[in-house]
Amino acid sequence: MNSTHTLSSWLARLDARETHIAIIGLGYVGLPLALLFSEECFRVTGFDIDAEKVATLNDGRSYIHRIEPEHIAGARAAGFRATTDFSELHECDAILICVPTPLHPDHTPDMSFVTSTVEALAPHTHAGQLLVLESTTYPGTTDELIVPTLERLGRNNLRVLRNGDGHDTLEGLMVAFSPEREDPGNLTTPRREIPKVIGGVDTRATQAAVALYGTIFNRTVAMSSPSAAEMTKLLENIYRCVNIALVNELKQLCLAMGIDIWEVIDAASTKPFGFQAFYPGPGIGGHCIPVDPFYLSWRAKQFNQPTRFIELAGEVNEAMPGFVVHTVERALEREGKSLAEAKVLLLGIAYKRDVDDLRESPALTIFDLLERAGASVSYNDPFFPEVGVGRKYALKRQSTALERVGDFDCVLLVTDHSAYDYAALVEASKIFVDTRNATRGIASGKIVRC
Ligand SMILES: NC(=O)c1ccc[n+]([C@@H]2O[C@H](COP(=O)([O-])OP(=O)(O)OC[C@H]3O[C@@H](n4cnc5c(N)ncnc54)[C@H](O)[C@@H]3O)[C@@H](O)[C@H]2O)c1
Repeated sequence: MNSTHTLSSWLARLDARETHIAIIGLGYVGLPLALLFSEECFRVTGFDIDAEKVATLNDGRSYIHRIEPEHIAGARAAGFRATTDFSELHECDAILICVPTPLHPDHTPDMSFVTSTVEALAPHTHAGQLLVLESTTYPGTTDELIVPTLERLGRNNLRVLRNGDGHDTLEGLMVAFSPEREDPGNLTTPRREIPKVIGGVDTRATQAAVALYGTIFNRTVAMSSPSAAEMTKLLENIYRCVNIALVNELKQLCLAMGIDIWEVIDAASTKPFGFQAFYPGPGIGGHCIPVDPFYLSWRAKQFNQPTRFIELAGEVNEAMPGFVVHTVERALEREGKSLAEAKVLLLGIAYKRDVDDLRESPALTIFDLLERAGASVSYNDPFFPEVGVGRKYALKRQSTALERVGDFDCVLLVTDHSAYDYAALVEASKIFVDTRNATRGIASGKIVRC
């Protein structure tokens, strides 16, 4: 158990790599984070409610495509282990929470994972520990949900340190928010180079979190409060969501006008200032962009404030799968075939290129819309040899071999994985609908760009 009572001794232990770090939620965010700290020679323990994940990791195996088993085995050899037993949190100096924050079907925040995690861990916390929430959430979560829960359920009248509570002494728990900003599949920006935004409830919490994350990130950005840090993450993702909606709308206009939107974006990107490129697609997916903006619009209602950009962007982006299906329908009709009698192959069902993540993928909506229209739908995705039943889907199918592309009336490219040979796929297809401009440079009358 940690007997640290001052911030200076907490920081000294960190410098000496004696800090024991707990990562709660060993998913796409938590597991890589655990490995980064392990590489820095910290003692790291991972906590998850999924016993299968815990057993897999303790066996030195991986369940995330981009994380090699050797990486897990290396961390295991360096002392990393996983557990489902939250009572072990008592031994830890820093507790980092990386659990899901999805939406309810009515687009309101589902905070149940965060709430149940904090309720489960609170009895095992003690003064001198640092607790950081990394999950994306609405501004106010740390102050209004996390802190009161910890103080209600913590033992021995545990308090969370607040500004003005004292100086060096740690007579309570340090609490901060630090959003995860990872971009899955982005191989050009190593995770260490993504600056880490941090906002503590108290300056001691900010200081401790800045020092902790400073061991694995090249740059940290200290903010004045958890709410400001929570809002920063939402601004980033709303900025992305709104700009994607803009190009999705302009794409439809360009198609109607016979202008190539991709050529336009490339040309606009040559401007050295004031323009950042965003690209159109079949809709938005993943755990962040389709979800996070609604956290803010939900919160804004409590302040009687409108969030019109968020709502409009949501409307435009959510209409994209329907636009894609309509394009497929018209392309088939030109060949004298109705959608209801067509066999359609979806290429790529992950929500983005080269990731093994299906969450909120527009492919799932497209699948559904095509089937409702009567089409017979199959898919190919190198990252999903088979797909069963998930939170929002029940595909229960296996990936179709690419050799069978010629059996389909239409091939619809939804996700442009880099493993695909597009020229060969177009050659083998009857109609090739391209939502990603992956066939740029390929001249063929079979290609329908959308
Ligand atoms: N995936 C990304 O690229 C990404 C990027 C930035 C931010 N985020 C945010 O990070 C958070 C985590 O996302 P993720 O993609 O890692 O989710 P994930 O679903 O991949 O992983 C979450 C893990 O938490 C575990 N878990 C759930 N409830 C738990 C509990 N009560 N106690 C312990 N473990 C529990 C799950 O079993 C799972 O292993 C979300 O808020 C998400 O919005 C994700």
